[in-house]
Amino acid sequence: MGAPIVIGIDLGTTYSCAAIVERGRPRVISDTGGSYLIPSVVAIDDKGNRLVGQSAKRQILINPRNTVYAAKRLIGRPYSSEQVKEAKQYIKYQVLPAEEEEVVIKLREDMYSLSEVSALILDHIRNVAQDRLGKEIDKATVTVPAYFNDSQRQAVRLAGKIAQLDVIRIINEPTAAALAYGFGKELNQKVAVYDLGGGTFDLSVLDIRNNIFEVKATGGDTFLGGVDFDNRLAEWVFYKFEKQYEIDLSKDPIAHQRVQDACEQVKIELSGRPQARINIPFIASGANGTLNIDLTIAREEFERLIEDLVDSTLKTCERVLEDAKLKKEDLSAVLLVGGSTRVPLVAKKVEEFFKISPSKAVHPDEAVALGAAIIADSIIRTGGKEVMLLDVLPITIGIKVPQDRVIPIFERNSSVPNQKQKIFTSSADNQSSLSLTILQGDSPKASECVPIGEFKFTGLRQAPKGQVRVEVSFYISPEGVLSVTARDPDTGLEQKSEIMVESSQSKIFHENLIQPKKPVAKTKVDTVISRTVTRERKIKLESVKPEPSKEFKQEETKPVETKGKKTKATLTATKYRESTPATSNSAKSAKQKKPEPGLLSRIFSKFFSKNE
Ligand SMILES: Nc1ncnc2c1ncn2[C@@H]1O[C@H](COP(=O)(O)OP(=O)(O)OP(=O)(O)O)[C@@H](O)[C@H]1O
Ligand SMILES: [Mg+2]
Repeated sequence: MGAPIVIGIDLGTTYSCAAIVERGRPRVISDTGGSYLIPSVVAIDDKGNRLVGQSAKRQILINPRNTVYAAKRLIGRPYSSEQVKEAKQYIKYQVLPAEEEEVVIKLREDMYSLSEVSALILDHIRNVAQDRLGKEIDKATVTVPAYFNDSQRQAVRLAGKIAQLDVIRIINEPTAAALAYGFGKELNQKVAVYDLGGGTFDLSVLDIRNNIFEVKATGGDTFLGGVDFDNRLAEWVFYKFEKQYEIDLSKDPIAHQRVQDACEQVKIELSGRPQARINIPFIASGANGTLNIDLTIAREEFERLIEDLVDSTLKTCERVLEDAKLKKEDLSAVLLVGGSTRVPLVAKKVEEFFKISPSKAVHPDEAVALGAAIIADSIIRTGGKEVMLLDVLPITIGIKVPQDRVIPIFERNSSVPNQKQKIFTSSADNQSSLSLTILQGDSPKASECVPIGEFKFTGLRQAPKGQVRVEVSFYISPEGVLSVTARDPDTGLEQKSEIMVESSQSKIFHENLIQPKKPVAKTKVDTVISRTVTRERKIKLESVKPEPSKEFKQEETKPVETKGKKTKATLTATKYRESTPATSNSAKSAKQKKPEPGLLSRIFSKFFSKNE
């Protein structure tokens, strides 16, 4: 077996993809059947066998209850979140709550955390790549939506650990796509990356200067993608069927799954044709025997079904340009990334919005994985110095304070890595600990933000109130992940961080989830050569206004010296950020319009009456 190599992995909601750099060129890795898109699907069959990828997807129609798909929509989310509630309306596998609001999945008799499901997918991708390349793979870069929050990122990190894969960097998907577009081309351009995949939407605006890729602003919706288009179409089919036969197919898991599957195919067909037929035989039985679905839908009608979803992405585009302080005319290119950008309405609306023809320079399915491979290769060869990714925090991170308020520590779109300090003073005599609840969200109301961590610093000096100070340092890594440390500035002693409860903290149900690897059959793979170093970027330091905290009074904030290791770690920053409240809200409200099963007839009869 040759020396271990590193790959880039695009861990998608519906499909994943891996890529590698060989002889200085990135390329996607196909499986033995020639397919480079690996379904992000995990199943347990009736014999208890675990299936991942194509084999899992192939059996979904006969085993919907024990087949997990679109797990990325649930990862790192609290069970009580709106998104989990919405997802539960159309997924057939069992989604259950665990401690700390964690979402777990039951497949046959076994529980799986979302990180474990993702670990199985990562492991499968690694095995596909190992088989093709004939080399052992223990390192990878993995991409995540730019708008993923801290908990979601941590959950993906954990998935890598469970898969025994050394994830050397987590990169934002649109940033990776921009790399695939501009790496090594000596560009000097501002570009927008519009990434609409199976389950998520991101829009990032980047300034590309040679091999420096600086994200100016980003926004998105981690619950908007092709799956929602399929669902809209499926609702239309259910409505039509119920109207004709008075049978609600959406209640039957197998019928539901068959309709959803067919709808994805019809949606894809409608990208190339003005109309398509939905033909599903033997879907139910009626008084006179078996019933079939046989419907024809025109592209215009499909477009009416999804138009509000597409429009919600444009609101994000507007907000991101504003945040980036750029005008549409400043952009040299708009890249369309993700399979759902093949929907003609999407491409048309994006073109109308930006007033520029979308670039054909990147492949919508491959760009993210190729970018991930480029950065993976660069890190391995040059410590990441030949290419610099400067990313941003997608969603504001702050501290919860009384009266349902949040004091921001890092505003959305602040550069990462980043570091800030706050000083708190004791508010009670002999106070022994300091607790902080960290939230992520763009709302000033704590109740509208997502808790990402509970920090408790213990063992404080015993003294009358007001006489103990605690200096808390907040650090956002290049991957957009927060860590918090504290010290007593008067004694210089580090405070012990007793607890760090992360909402993404995931249960491990299977100690030996990943089987030991078989030796890899050897094939010849050459690796790379390449370029030179670029510049450094300093951690951006911002001051934060003093605000009172729950247990401690916050006294002052001071900038942090950018010395030592952390400064070094900033040389090749990757960043991420999250959506605007406006975007999320508009997308959400768009989705809230989605009729519930019981309401289908009423709402759809109004909605479709024109065509009948
Ligand atoms: N020709 C097409 N027309 C319309 N939709 C398409 C077409 N081809 C693929 N899609 C859709 O694109 C989506 C998959 O795209 P992609 O692989 O980029 O997403 P993903 O990586 O799985 O998801 P995400 O990036 O959101 O996590 C699916 O919903 C699929 O149905
Ligand atoms: Mg994707």
